[in-house]
Amino acid sequence: MIFLFKLVIAYLLGSVSGSLVLGRRQGVDIRTQGSGNAGGTNALRTRGWRFALGVVIIDIGKGALAAAVGLYAAAQNPAVAWSCGFAAVLGHVFPVFFGFRGGKGAATLVGVVLALHPVMVLPLLGAWLLVLTGTGYVGLATVTASVVYPVAVALLVPADRTQLLFALASAALLVWTHRGNLVRLRRGVEYRFERARLFRR
Ligand code: G3P
Repeated sequence: MIFLFKLVIAYLLGSVSGSLVLGRRQGVDIRTQGSGNAGGTNALRTRGWRFALGVVIIDIGKGALAAAVGLYAAAQNPAVAWSCGFAAVLGHVFPVFFGFRGGKGAATLVGVVLALHPVMVLPLLGAWLLVLTGTGYVGLATVTASVVYPVAVALLVPADRTQLLFALASAALLVWTHRGNLVRLRRGVEYRFERARLFRR
C-alpha cells in the first residue's frame, strides 16, 4: 500500500511537464509547434535556449527527485527507488495534468539515473553525443542512447538486476515514444539539430 502511494507520488511528479508548465505561463502549447513533442529538443527548436534550459532542468530534476524520494522513503531499497523513477518517466510521457499527452521521457530518465547511479549516465551521454554529432538527429541519438543503457548495465554492473529491469523497460518505452521520429527518419523528413538555435534568444 505504501509502495503504491510512493509510485503515485512519483508519477504525479513526473506529470509536471517542464515544457507544458512553462508554456502555459507564456500562453503557448508546445505540442502544437515543431515536432509536437513536449520536451527539451522541441522547446529549443520552437522557443529558444532559455526556455529549453528551464524545460530540461525541470524534466531532469523531477526524475531525480522522484527517484531520491523513492530511495530515502524506502530505507534505501533500490527496487522501490528504480520503480519510482520509472513511474516518473511514465508520468512525463502520460501526464495526468495535461491530458496524458506528454514528452518522450529522455530527460526524466537521465534524472533518475543521475540520482541513483550517476556514473551510468556516461555511456548514455557518450552514445547520445556520438550519434548526434555523427548524424545531426537528436531523436536517433536518444533512441540509440536508450538502447545502449541496458547493454551498459548488463556489461558493467551485471549483478544490478533492478537497474537492468528499469533500463530494459525504459529502452522499450523510449523506442516506442520515438516511433514517429523513426518513421520520419525512414522517410528522410526527420528534424535535424540546428546548432544556430543555441545562440538565438
Ligand atoms: O527527447 C526527445 C528527442 O529525442 C526528440 O525530440 O522534438 O525531435 O521529436 P523531437
